[in-house]
Amino acid sequence: MTTVQDLAEMAGEEPITMLTAYDAPTAAIVEAAGVDVILVGDSMGNAVLGHDSTLPVTVEEVRSRTAAVSRATDDVLVVADMPFLSYGVEESDTIENCGRMLKEADANAVKLESGPHTVELTERLVELGIPVMAHLGLTPQRVHQLGGYFRQGTDEESAAEMLDLARAHADAGAFAVVLEHVPSNVASQITEEIDVPTIGIGAGPDTDGQVLVLNDVFGMSDWTPYFAEQFGDVKGEMENAVEGFREAVESGDFPADEHSYDEEEIDEIY
Ligand code: KIV
Repeated sequence: MTTVQDLAEMAGEEPITMLTAYDAPTAAIVEAAGVDVILVGDSMGNAVLGHDSTLPVTVEEVRSRTAAVSRATDDVLVVADMPFLSYGVEESDTIENCGRMLKEADANAVKLESGPHTVELTERLVELGIPVMAHLGLTPQRVHQLGGYFRQGTDEESAAEMLDLARAHADAGAFAVVLEHVPSNVASQITEEIDVPTIGIGAGPDTDGQVLVLNDVFGMSDWTPYFAEQFGDVKGEMENAVEGFREAVESGDFPADEHSYDEEEIDEIY
């Protein structure tokens, strides 16, 4: 099984791969492809739950989907993404919510969208045996504060703040830091400066690993950010399959003889 220690060993030696997944069948596909980490992202809000943002996602939704991903996988490291306000309000609630992911959903770690308020919290969780992945740069749970899903760390002051926070979280015991939508040169310097792996999304080629949202990789999204890549046309395949079903039923081709059988013992029923 991939462990947080394995990721530390991979950093700088071989790229770490991470994808989101939100259910058992896709998690099994991701694991079979040899990806190192599955993030049960709160991006499920947009990707599968039909919300406009990640804010409505609940602890129970992440718990249930993390459990499904864990049941379908053996080797991959499973990280549960803690939803908005499930951490950082009351310490005891944070510990309980994060703990549920390990106790009830068999996650190996949790991810927190990070800031100054999560440094001590990270230390406390790690002290209790809950591995923490930090997340800096664009933190979508702050969309209303940021005014949109914009690139972060675009001037020297904010880039330096991000570096300080990355160091602080690494010192607090975070086992990896996700850097989302930050300039490549900033991500590159943070990667150089901290001694835990960085995993980038929209952060250029120099981070220790890369993460994408599975819907983008599959080609399932109506819109894909410029930094993501569609590696397939799963949406097109699904549309073809559903269309094929409808046409076959309407034309009488389905069900055919091989899909049906007669019970010979039954003659006539009243
Ligand atoms: O929720 C998510 O999918 C994420 C990734 C984009 C890192 O946080």
